[in-house]
Amino acid sequence: MPDSRSADSALSNSPIEAAFREHTPGSAALAAEAKTHFPSGITHDARHLKPYGVYIERGVGPRKWDVDGNEYVDYFGGHGALLLGHAHPEVTRAATEAMATGTQFGANHPLEIGWANAVKRLVPSVERVRFTSSGTEATHMALRLARDFTGKSKVVRFRTHFHGWHDHMTHGVASQFDGSASPGVLAGVAENILLADPNDLEGLRTLLGAHDDIAAAIIEPIGGSTGYTALNPDFLRALREETAKHGILLILDEVVTGFRLAPGGAQSVFGITPDLSAFAKILAGGMPGGAVGGRKDILDGLDFDAAEQRKREKIGHPGTFNANPVSAAAGTTALRVLAETGACDRANETGAVLRERLNAVLKDQRVPWAFYGAYSIFHLFVQADRPVADPFAFDPSALPAVIMKDRPKELIRQLRLAMLVNGVDLNPACGGLLSATHGPAEIDATVAAFTESLAMLRRAGEIA
Ligand SMILES: Cc1ncc(COP(=O)(O)O)c(C=O)c1O
Repeated sequence: MPDSRSADSALSNSPIEAAFREHTPGSAALAAEAKTHFPSGITHDARHLKPYGVYIERGVGPRKWDVDGNEYVDYFGGHGALLLGHAHPEVTRAATEAMATGTQFGANHPLEIGWANAVKRLVPSVERVRFTSSGTEATHMALRLARDFTGKSKVVRFRTHFHGWHDHMTHGVASQFDGSASPGVLAGVAENILLADPNDLEGLRTLLGAHDDIAAAIIEPIGGSTGYTALNPDFLRALREETAKHGILLILDEVVTGFRLAPGGAQSVFGITPDLSAFAKILAGGMPGGAVGGRKDILDGLDFDAAEQRKREKIGHPGTFNANPVSAAAGTTALRVLAETGACDRANETGAVLRERLNAVLKDQRVPWAFYGAYSIFHLFVQADRPVADPFAFDPSALPAVIMKDRPKELIRQLRLAMLVNGVDLNPACGGLLSATHGPAEIDATVAAFTESLAMLRRAGEIA
């Protein structure tokens, strides 16, 4: 077995990191080997953590266990896929049954019909749907449908908003806010994206008025990176009005918000009817899967007969695992369960209590940060030159989105390691997503872990 310490070349003398290493020798050993297989030893950028991330063996409901036997309250939530928690019994049964009867028929199958019905029942703007294998594929297809339908090339996107990793979506999320292309992306692709500032209605009106070649605008309905940079709902409604006025299609990226904020997603909460929506994550019940859905006349771009009638080539869309039976079974079951059991409301209510309890700790300990967010989502604001006097009064939409992204990476890293040592797994920005299975026990454990983590940061001299 490789030397676990070789997982990280630059060993720090942080006592928190030392405690983390002591706590997780099995993860350290696996991380050392992983570095010989994967760039940075990881398979998703969000799993990048120095000295290494924990290796998880199993999960149940709101908790998961690593290879060293440590238990965590989980706020990573399968990158947002697990509104029903880990290994939900009904979803697991449905997926297992589908698995046992064959995973890939190279043919249509009944489960895909049930999945489409489940989506259409919950989201009325979906007249037609096309399943994909991920959210990235869903937003990619949404852009292609919009360009095909309108015959126009440009797409409006909002700075800090994340829509996956295909070429049109990479710059302007965490860097390249000036519109230049990200590494490996053609300048010509980036040039067809018009970056706009969220919450700036005048700027948006000017932009839309200055171009007559815009096919679509795409947006995360609660703000960039799952609401880390908050979006004013009035701006979202104005975007719907302005795009309609200009004949521009509105693509709502509901990859995170869909089936989470409410069974009908953000569009049901804010009363918005998009032309197209992108879905993934909860859609597939913890299995891989995505979908683009919306107006029939736009989805007709994928339809053989419609293309023949219009005498133009259709959009090609193969995809070996589109609507695969296992994802279809898991997704259909998850959508039914969440709609029948009030899962979204339950997660939202627990989210509100968690944010309040964590802010009470900050206030009590005079730590000038704030937890914020909405629904079943929470984020942490920490900026040394912008101390928060009262976390309960913090307004994330008061700061420009690009400035919100400016967090102290080393402090956040130390906090994240401390929280892991204390049994809580947060996301890389020390926020997270709740499931309907999180409850009072998880909140109490999280508050205790956070209180102890602040004490560890104090002892390490990381905070005053
Ligand atoms: C809002 C949003 N859109 C799209 C995506 C991409 O989805 P996937 O990771 O399934 O490709 C994500 C992923 O986190 C997302 O948060």
